Amino acid sequence: MNMPEHISRAVDLVKVHQQGQAQIRALDSVTVGFARGRFTAIAGPSGSGKSTLMHCLAGLDSATSGQVMLGDTELTGLSDRELTRVRRDKVGFVFQSFNLLPQLTALENIVLPVTMTGRFLDQDLLDHLVGVLGIGDRMSHRPAELSGGQQQRVALARALLARPAVVFADEPTGNLDSRTGAEVLDFLRRSVRDLCQTVVMVTHDPRAAAYADRVLVLADGRIVDDVDVASGADVAQALQSVATVGRAR
Ligand SMILES: Nc1ncnc2c1ncn2[C@@H]1O[C@H](COP(=O)(O)OP(=O)(O)O)[C@@H](O)[C@H]1O
Ligand SMILES: [Mg+2]
Repeated sequence: MNMPEHISRAVDLVKVHQQGQAQIRALDSVTVGFARGRFTAIAGPSGSGKSTLMHCLAGLDSATSGQVMLGDTELTGLSDRELTRVRRDKVGFVFQSFNLLPQLTALENIVLPVTMTGRFLDQDLLDHLVGVLGIGDRMSHRPAELSGGQQQRVALARALLARPAVVFADEPTGNLDSRTGAEVLDFLRRSVRDLCQTVVMVTHDPRAAAYADRVLVLADGRIVDDVDVASGADVAQALQSVATVGRAR
């Protein structure tokens, strides 16, 4: 599992959430690696631990036990301050609720993570992203003046501009109509193909998962299926397995 081509990985990852007196074992010894330049979907029913896994992989949440690596950095064991720096420098995020800063324009939102950290602003990449996403005429608007789809496109440009080691997306199409959602998924797939971006996307929607190269299926905090969609043969099986797990709930 300790393979260099795995830009992100977890070994025996356990996460127990404390809820009042109750302990919820959201991740039950998960071992998995994510290859560079691939698009992986983490699928499974609501409550199966998808977001918890993504949060632990991205350094947004701490593990109860086990190991999480991002590139050469072991996240488990870092201080909050060090984790903040790793997230800032190495990770791009896309959330269901867009999470744009309301007082900033679209352009300011997109460039903020780069300019705030004094890094080089890659104008060619910015132009490319804005062009592919079709948001060039929205750059001076604030989020409240944008549709949900436009806000998510801004969030995608923001996530990719910093050339993060991994883009983590949690239900990125959850608040979008199906056509806009398909455009967002197409963009993610294209960013893997054209920019060699590594993308890990959480979704409970089998149709969204089908855009990925690989589908991991979680149930009750464990990986119950791991399908290489790129091989072409197992797409139906992956979807079936997501649907079956979903129905079992
Ligand atoms: N912050 C938290 N506090 C307590 N329990 C949580 C917390 N986050 C998640 N859980 C619980 O952990 C389990 C997995 O949740 P989650 O990772 O959000 O699943 P998914 O994203 O697949 O819907 C669920 O039982 C959920 O209720
Ligand atoms: Mg979730």
